[in-house]
Amino acid sequence: MRIAIYPGSFDPPTNGHIDIIGRARQVFDRVVVAVLRNPRKDPMFSVAARLEMLEEAIGEDEGVQVVAFDGLLVDAAREHEAHAIIRGLRAISDFEHEFQMALMNRQLDDQVETLFMVPHAAYTYLSSSLIKEVAGLGGSVSDLVPAGVELRLREHHGK
Ligand code: PNS
Repeated sequence: MRIAIYPGSFDPPTNGHIDIIGRARQVFDRVVVAVLRNPRKDPMFSVAARLEMLEEAIGEDEGVQVVAFDGLLVDAAREHEAHAIIRGLRAISDFEHEFQMALMNRQLDDQVETLFMVPHAAYTYLSSSLIKEVAGLGGSVSDLVPAGVELRLREHHGK
């Protein structure tokens, strides 16, 4: 069984994340979407809300499991028997940080391989922080995030 872990903050999930999950599923039998509990960041959404938004957006797919994780990603990968870490690569600007993380993860565990996947061109400029900024200023993000995420962003901003 080919298993991959797709880690992230997902605060909140965007259509770009959902697109990558779909692409990863074309290649892997099981994709474990792993939400970082973010001890050092100050997330807009609770872990429970992020898990719920992901589950809603993914829908029925027994090959996708949504979990939360703390600590090292390589430990979560081992726990879920994943041999690959999936990361979305949007632009050159992502590359340096992603390259560092991939090599650090290899240093920590060379049994797990990092694979970069490119989202649909329509989502290459998307990021969760931009979504939060635009939604917070009253702009429409309806084409950019799943419906449940848009709803929760509205609720968060009391609209
Ligand atoms: O969506 P993000 O915020 O870009 O995801 C970052 C994430 C969760 C992949 C990264 O912060 C991570 O793997 N954190 C776990 C801690 C860890 O393993 N650090 C060392 C690896 S570089």
